[in-house]
Amino acid sequence: MIKVGIVGVGTVGESVVKILEKNRDIINARSGKEIVVAKGAVRNLNKKRDVNIPLTTDPYEIVNEPQIDIVVELMGGVDEAYNVVKKALLNKKAVVTANKALLAYHRYELQNLAGDIPFEFEASVAGGIPIIKALREGLSANHIEAIKGIMNGTCNFILTKMEKESVDFDLVLKEAQDLGYAEADPTFDIEGFDAAHKLLILASIAYGIDAKPEDILIEGITKITSLDFSFANEFGYSIKLLGIAKKINNHVELRVHPTLISKEQMIAKVDGVMNGISVIGDFVGETMYYGPGAGGDATASAVVSNIIDIARGGKCSPMLGFKKPLESGMKLLNIDDIKSKYYLRVLVEDRPGVLAKIAELFGNLNISIESMLQKPKEKSKANLLLSTHECYEKDIQKALKELEKLDFIDGKPFMMRIE
Ligand code: NAP
Ligand code: HSE
Repeated sequence: MIKVGIVGVGTVGESVVKILEKNRDIINARSGKEIVVAKGAVRNLNKKRDVNIPLTTDPYEIVNEPQIDIVVELMGGVDEAYNVVKKALLNKKAVVTANKALLAYHRYELQNLAGDIPFEFEASVAGGIPIIKALREGLSANHIEAIKGIMNGTCNFILTKMEKESVDFDLVLKEAQDLGYAEADPTFDIEGFDAAHKLLILASIAYGIDAKPEDILIEGITKITSLDFSFANEFGYSIKLLGIAKKINNHVELRVHPTLISKEQMIAKVDGVMNGISVIGDFVGETMYYGPGAGGDATASAVVSNIIDIARGGKCSPMLGFKKPLESGMKLLNIDDIKSKYYLRVLVEDRPGVLAKIAELFGNLNISIESMLQKPKEKSKANLLLSTHECYEKDIQKALKELEKLDFIDGKPFMMRIE
C-alpha cells in the first residue's frame, strides 16, 4: 500500500482525491499498489469541500508523518511551498507538485536535494498534457531547436472570447476564475508570469539552462484592445500569448508575450482553455502537443500519473533530465538581440505630415514598414496600426522611445511581436 498526503485540497487537490477514488480499479492495476490518501492539509477546516478525507491545517503533520510515502504539494506560492517540499525531501519522501512558481525559482536546488528520491512535476506545465515526459524522455535524443506554445489556459480562454465573442476582459477573467483555471492571484496569468514559469521549466529540460523569471522578457495581455484584434483579423493573424524558446548556436532566447501568428498555423487554432505546444527537435522535426491546460480534473490527471509512476517504482533522476552539464554550455540570448517582426498601435493627431514623420523615424532606424491601417477616432485623432518587416528588438525599442517624443503622439504606443 502507498500512502499519499496532499498539502492543498483546493481545485486540483480535490480532483486528485476524486480520481484516486473513482479510478481505483485501473490505478491499482496499473501501479500494482493500493494507493490511499492518508491526510490533506488546508488553511480553512470549515470550508465546504466535495471530498471527505482527514484534514489538518498544519502541512508539517503530513511531511513529518512516518506512514506517508508521497507528499503531493498543491498549495501554491513559492516560499511556504519550498519549505514544505524541502522538509518532505529531507524526510526522504517522494514528492509530486504542480507548482510552476516554486519550480521557476527553486528547481535546481530541489533537484540537488532530491538526488535519487522521486520528484515529479508533470502538472506544472500545460495542465493535462504530458509535455514533461514528452520532452524529458520522448525527445531526449534530440537537440531542441525551438519550443513555441500556448502555456496559459486562462489567457487563451480570455483571448479566444475577446476575439470570437468580443467579450469584455474583466468578465471573461471572472469566468476563468470561476472555472478554476486562474491562479490564486490572477495577475500571474494575465501579466505572463505563469507562462514564463512554465517556459523556464521546459527550458531547463530542453537546454539545461538555469534562468529565473527576472532574466527573461515577459509581457502580458492586459493592454490588448478590440482594435488589435481588428488589425490581426484584417491581415490573417490570431493573437495568442506564446512562450518561445529558440536555440541559436549555443544561445537560447526565452520570451513570453502576446504574439500575432498566422491563422494558418496549427497553434492559432488552439482555442479556449486548451494549450498547444510545438517542439522542434533536430532529428525528429516538429512535434505538437495539444490538450486542456488548466482546470482541476485535467491537472489532477497529470498529478495522479506521477503518483502512479512513483508507486510503480519508476523515477527519472535527475528530475530535470541532465546527468551532467552540456559541454558546449548554453547561454541566454540578450533580449536586444532578438529578431522579430512587430505590430504597433499609435494614437496620433490626424493632420498632414504625421505619417511622413513616422515613416522617416522608422527609416532612420532601418526599420521597414510592411503594412498599415488608419482607424479614425473622435476629436481629430486616429489610431495607426502598422506592422514591420523583421528587425532587431533594440531598434524597435529605440523607435518606441523616439515615437513617444513626437508632439502629435497621444499616450504610449503599444507594440506586439509577430511570429
Ligand atoms: P487552490 O484552489 O487555491 O488550492 C490551494 C489549496 O492549498 C487550498 O486547499 C488551500 O486551503 C491550501 N493552502 C494554501 N496555503 C496553505 C497553507 N499555508 N497551509 C495549508 N493549506 C494551504 O489552488 P489550485 O488551483 O488547486 O492550485 C494548486 C497548485 O496547482 C498551484 O501551485 C497552481 O499553480 C497549480 N496548478 C493549478 C492548475 C489549475 O488549473 N487550477 C493547473 C496547473 C497547476 P483552503 O482550501 O483552506 O483555502
Ligand atoms: N492558471 C494556469 C493557467 C493553470 O491558466 O494555465 C494551469 O497551469
